[in-house]
Amino acid sequence: MHPRCDETPQWAQLQAHYQAQGRGLDLRRAFAEDAGRFAHFSQQAPHVFADLSKNLWDRQAEALLLDMARACRLEHSRDAMFAGQAVNSTEGRAALHTLLRRPRGLALPGDEPFVAQALQEVHATLDAMLAFAEAVRADAQITDIVNIGIGGSDLGPHMAVRALQAHQLPGRRFHFVSNIDGHELASVLQAVRPESTLFIVASKTFTTLETMANARSALDWFAAQGGQDVARHFVALTANVAKAAEWGMSRTFGFWDWVGGRYSLWSAIGLPIAIAIGAAGFRDFLAGAHAMDEHFRSAPLAHNLPVRLALLDIWYRNFLGLPSRCIAPYHAWLQRLPAYLQQLEMESNGKRVDSQGRALPMATAPVIWGEPGSNGQHAFFQLLHQGPDVQALEIIAVRDSAHGLAGHHQMLLANALAQAQALMQGRASGCGHRHFPGNRPSSFVLLDALTPASLGAYLALQEHRVFCSGSLWGINSFDQWGVELGKQLAQDLQPRLHTGDVAGLDGSTAGLLQRLAGVGGR
Ligand code: F6P
Repeated sequence: MHPRCDETPQWAQLQAHYQAQGRGLDLRRAFAEDAGRFAHFSQQAPHVFADLSKNLWDRQAEALLLDMARACRLEHSRDAMFAGQAVNSTEGRAALHTLLRRPRGLALPGDEPFVAQALQEVHATLDAMLAFAEAVRADAQITDIVNIGIGGSDLGPHMAVRALQAHQLPGRRFHFVSNIDGHELASVLQAVRPESTLFIVASKTFTTLETMANARSALDWFAAQGGQDVARHFVALTANVAKAAEWGMSRTFGFWDWVGGRYSLWSAIGLPIAIAIGAAGFRDFLAGAHAMDEHFRSAPLAHNLPVRLALLDIWYRNFLGLPSRCIAPYHAWLQRLPAYLQQLEMESNGKRVDSQGRALPMATAPVIWGEPGSNGQHAFFQLLHQGPDVQALEIIAVRDSAHGLAGHHQMLLANALAQAQALMQGRASGCGHRHFPGNRPSSFVLLDALTPASLGAYLALQEHRVFCSGSLWGINSFDQWGVELGKQLAQDLQPRLHTGDVAGLDGSTAGLLQRLAGVGGR
């Protein structure tokens, strides 16, 4: 067992450094005193450039954080994950999403014995899944693809299909149904026809209430509309192939229990992405992620972008006490990115005990939230500029646009730059409500273009960042026990909504249930 970050000697040194210097750090002064600050705190990684220099840290804090990571044996934990060790300790499983983008036949030092065989299975399934995706693309009768899934079986594919629309096959519409709320499925079903629709039922477990209810309703609708040939119009993506067969799904692409739900878009769960951007595009997506894997595996910690981001996250959460990180993608097609990152960070690291079950004495995952810029500027950026609390902010910008509308992209990029500048510079001249305190942090992440490869690399970067902060906090980032209790209670409450039975319920739940069931009057 490796020491947790708070158990290292650097922890107290970081606290002392924060009190002595970190608290009083002024970014404007830091830039004036250090001409090399941008160069030092920026980092090129495969497909992704990040400027971390407008953050409230200095070289000494970073050096201590790096020492802390070494004391926690972060590289050892990283290698254990890549090698297929059971790093998901509470479920006794590996977390091998990196294998899904590993080139055929590539062995890594220390690979667990099962990894070589697993890699062969990965490529056999990938080949079959991509052949199917190409067949769907070639089938002019199929105009609508409806993905039914939730959480990791929705957020990644949904985000990526929207992000990569410049690479999308024209003439196809992609719909994503996740919510148990029938309004969502109903409006999709109104817009499609059975003979031209492919339904993808995506669920690792094939037992998730929302997905199964939506799949059942889609099958019923298909039959009621006179749909012919369920085998042609429904396909299952799951790690529970037997369960999909019980559902009568004759065409299934499988994956493995060592793929976590929120890490699964690289597996068969990526089928909607593959249909949208084609087999070659999907292979580029995997290659971009693999390039980032190699960077994470081999770059020294001080020049390792996922590690540097994670250390900044720990500095902010545990020493500055920043409660949240706002995600502001300056690209309209990255609209679903904040939601995707919410699950990645908050389901992975939103935990109050370490992997041994011991209560943690420090804060863990920040709240992740956000919206694309420039929209956010006309909504919540007010709080970032002048609210009483400082929040972390991450701007994601793309240098090249994929549209030909003159002037728009320069305006967009100028706004992204200006926000980061304004947050840092502030404005001393005004007073009262015209005063901008400045010294507010931001990270600036830059992609040259929004391509399958750059998106793949960016997402792998975020996965590894979450893994690093989770490892340093001593957390198992790959389980999600926190979602179980609500699921169980909903099962108890569902029949009560018919009967109005409130026996044993607390006063509030009872009162609300009676109103919802129409028992106590509306
Ligand atoms: O709600 C938690 C969760 O288990 C997520 O981790 C997962 O991505 C989602 O539900 C969907 O699960 P499944 O793919 O098994 O339907």
